[in-house]
Amino acid sequence: MSKTTNSNKLWGGRFKEDNEAIVKRFTSSIQFDHKLATQDIMVSLAHAQMLHKIGILKESELKKINFGLEKISEEIESKTFPWSEDLEDVHMNIESRLTDLIGIAGKKLHTARSRNDQVATDIRLYLREAIEEIKIELRKLQISIITLARSNTSTIMPGLTHLQAAQPITFGHHLLAWNEMLDRDYCRLVDCLHRLNECPLGSAALAGTSFPIDRHMTSELLRFNKPTENSMDGVSDRDFGVEFCSFSALLMTHLSRISEEIILWMSQQFDFISIPDSFCTGSSIMPQKKNPDIPELIRGKSGRVTGNLISLLTVIKSQPLAYNKDNQEDKEPIFDTVETILSSLRIFSQMVPGIKPNIEKMFESASIGHSTATDLAEYLVRKGIAFRDAHQAVGGIVALAVERNTSIDKIELSVLQSFCSNIQEDVFDVITLEGSVKSRNHFGATSPDQVEAAAQRALKRIEERGKEDC
Ligand code: ARG
Repeated sequence: MSKTTNSNKLWGGRFKEDNEAIVKRFTSSIQFDHKLATQDIMVSLAHAQMLHKIGILKESELKKINFGLEKISEEIESKTFPWSEDLEDVHMNIESRLTDLIGIAGKKLHTARSRNDQVATDIRLYLREAIEEIKIELRKLQISIITLARSNTSTIMPGLTHLQAAQPITFGHHLLAWNEMLDRDYCRLVDCLHRLNECPLGSAALAGTSFPIDRHMTSELLRFNKPTENSMDGVSDRDFGVEFCSFSALLMTHLSRISEEIILWMSQQFDFISIPDSFCTGSSIMPQKKNPDIPELIRGKSGRVTGNLISLLTVIKSQPLAYNKDNQEDKEPIFDTVETILSSLRIFSQMVPGIKPNIEKMFESASIGHSTATDLAEYLVRKGIAFRDAHQAVGGIVALAVERNTSIDKIELSVLQSFCSNIQEDVFDVITLEGSVKSRNHFGATSPDQVEAAAQRALKRIEERGKEDC
């Protein structure tokens, strides 16, 4: 074999000089892609088994490779693996160590594959595992929200539009609205998994290989649904990463909206809820402060996750087929997204059970702003008045309440009747806050019975998803 003057034993053959140190540092990805070590080893084990089946590796060579990769796993686990920046990335670090450990058989492992299909397979495996973990955490959060909703089916609070009192609702109903956002996120995640779960291994550099490889075998060994159809697409496709980051950006957007409400509700101005001291932080200067740092940080972290989506889209944009080194930039946004959403989901689902509603304050706030005026108009419609006329009459009643600085349910029946003679004693069943929420008693509405039924449906959906997915 001819001697190389480039220190990279894995691709230095055609090079007459070594890379500058600055070039090595700039092009290497080992600082972050070492996170793919487990997946890279799994891919190598499957590839080796397939190479043996098609007669490229002898039984003894396969055994050596399996032994060496096992040893490398242990070294990585025990943090004794000799990572080297000179070896550029996780793939070359592992392959080089394998050859050091087992000799020539290690050099045969790269037959019929390229780092291009290797890294595409590794990252799909990494995301597939991450998605399974995220599914569990998302479910936990949903269940903690639904549980809180079930203990608050009759807790009355103001429902807002334009951040102003609109109509009374139940706290449980509001919480179940949060669950709906997260439920759609869950389904988007499952949907992304379908397209992600295809195996690019065997695409090699871009055009496949001249060896009679069995791509179905490696795909099955790695528990993918099928091998990817096209070798060029296989090495260049990062759509699954975009879909995952897009799911994540929307999830964080939802968590940010929810956080915003928690922050508002915890303020002295709203005073609707409290969360335990153990989930709040203080101020180094103002002794009285109990700050909602967790929801605020989650609101803030939504920025970086959305940023990761934009980074990844921009990495892909303008890349001609097939693999380009640009793709090395896919990893950090993906890793950061996985880590950010997992930690956000975990802390959120631990915080939610600690949310204590201030029931009196919510009720009092719901009574401000004549929020049962629509109920009164609807009552008049049931008494035979056209909606527009009912709206007009109730407008007059609200104006009087404003003038008297009172609420419409505190006005005497005789005065109400002077606005519309169809009003009777039973009006008080619907214009009180309790009457109002109780009357909104259809599928998807806010009455305590409907909220309990909706919570049960939500739980059932989550339970059944275990079997079927969305
Ligand atoms: N470290 C590279 C990446 O993350 C691996 C593939 C390198 N392939 C190549 N042709 N340079 O994408």
